[in-house]
Amino acid sequence: MGKLLALAIVGVLAALIGERLMGFRHRMCASRELKPKRLPNCHLIKGIEAGSEDIDILPNGLAFISSGLKYPGLKSFAPDKRGEILLLDLKEDDPRPVELRINHGFDLASFNPHGISLYIGDDDAVYLFVVNHPRYKSTVELFKFVEDDNSLVHLKTIKHELLASVNDIVALGPDSFYATNDHYFTGITLMLLEMFLGLAWTNVVYYSPQEVKEVAAGFYSANGINISPDGKYVYIADLLDHNIHVFEKHANLSLTPLKVLQLDTLVDNISVDPYTGDVWVGCHPNGMKLFLYDPENVPGSEVLHIQDILSKKPTVTQVYIDDGSVIQGSSVATVYDNQLLIGTVFHKGLHCEL
Ligand SMILES: *[C@@H]1O[C@H](CO)[C@@H](O)[C@H](O)[C@H]1NC(C)=O
Ligand SMILES: *[C@@H]1O[C@H](CO)[C@@H](O)[C@H](O)[C@H]1NC(C)=O
Repeated sequence: MGKLLALAIVGVLAALIGERLMGFRHRMCASRELKPKRLPNCHLIKGIEAGSEDIDILPNGLAFISSGLKYPGLKSFAPDKRGEILLLDLKEDDPRPVELRINHGFDLASFNPHGISLYIGDDDAVYLFVVNHPRYKSTVELFKFVEDDNSLVHLKTIKHELLASVNDIVALGPDSFYATNDHYFTGITLMLLEMFLGLAWTNVVYYSPQEVKEVAAGFYSANGINISPDGKYVYIADLLDHNIHVFEKHANLSLTPLKVLQLDTLVDNISVDPYTGDVWVGCHPNGMKLFLYDPENVPGSEVLHIQDILSKKPTVTQVYIDDGSVIQGSSVATVYDNQLLIGTVFHKGLHCEL
């Protein structure tokens, strides 16, 4: 009897693990086949070799790029190099990235930038919010951009218990934002277990100096976040659920779910075209290859362009797809004036003409 019970328990456990494994492989899009689809006028951006995780562009064509992310479970081609914020002027013919200087007093040695977001103040001052992982913790750094000498002045470090494992951020004001927490746990083993078990425990938090609150929850892995040009809708990418959630934003800053756009790929960062409102998404066609990096079998890249996301039938166009021979692990795609920038978690950056 004891033996039978033990056998039954082993059987149930094996079935459970098998079911979780199937679900995990599905969430990772592990068996998707890729047919490359390239754009005719693309070149790799010189000087970006260790990631261009997130990109945000000012109306004057200055693109801010976070580079050098080191994150548990993700490949790094420059593990000993600190992170940096690069600036690329898209109005130039052959733009080259320059590193933005950061004032003394800021702990540069442990700078590990992740998601970023720009905010233009009433006085035209440009604020840059940067998700930072110094020693694998999560903080949000607020900088002011000084264009005269391409520098960033550090204004403050924001930490909060509700901002425990921040991934991406969208600025709402000179010191307020929405941020996604992409994991419930912060240690790598528990993070992997959380992904494997498919726990929908990650969330979106509103932050201002006066108030901090959770405004949405129940994502497998809340990742990219952005806002419509009129400020009425918020888009949140759930990496492991392969979809984009559209929320209505209220005057009291709470969010209510409006719709979910289901896709067939791991959606990472979301960019919004400030003129058309179109949504551009950097995606990972195969999450298994991203998280278990193998130089012989590298992760690919995919860019989706979504028009009329609020309508009943949004148009989803696959603009670019590569098997990793050109660019690996695309995390963001953003447009400026017929130019497309494709950024990656840890690889290079691609500049294309549309
Ligand atoms: C941008 O892409 C990186 C790649 O994951 C992702 O980790 C990060 O969350 C994204 N940042 C934003 C702002 O979405
Ligand atoms: C915020 O505003 C919305 C819409 O008016 C309302 O439904 C919701 O209850 C409000 N939430 C809070 C916490 O006041």
